[in-house]
Amino acid sequence: MSYKPKFYQLLKQQAEGLLYGESNLIANAANLGSLLYHILEDVNWVGFYFHQDNELVLGPFQGQVACTRIALGQGVCGTAFSCNKTLRIADVHAFKGHIACDSASNSELVIPLNVNNKTIGVLDIDSPAFDRFDEYDQKGCEEIVKILLNSIEI
Ligand code: SME
Repeated sequence: MSYKPKFYQLLKQQAEGLLYGESNLIANAANLGSLLYHILEDVNWVGFYFHQDNELVLGPFQGQVACTRIALGQGVCGTAFSCNKTLRIADVHAFKGHIACDSASNSELVIPLNVNNKTIGVLDIDSPAFDRFDEYDQKGCEEIVKILLNSIEI
């Protein structure tokens, strides 16, 4: 049995506590990104891209400097956004069109941010390990994204 269901249950409680009483999107995305970056093992980049000017624009993140703008439908982030679907990529080098911001990244989990039937951006988590993210990570991080989106006023 994986330790991850319990791990994410505790992480969700931490996220709820961290965001409690604050409804600013940027502040909560920044704090949640930091929580994930420091608690998840084997990750080298955690951050947000937000939909603006018909592109994805870099938001709060932890890790090496990253590309500022990503075209919709491009890379793992732009594809997850356009398809409105979580993408869990075991080997980013095998993903056609992958945008290599940090050459250390080998696997990636990208989760769309949906508010009121509108996709407003994505959460991007990168790892130097291949196949870092399993279905428990996907489900756990999707639930953590929901905590963020429930906390904010847009
Ligand atoms: N690898 C992403 C780009 C963002 S960075 O990893 C921070 C992509 O292919 O969309």
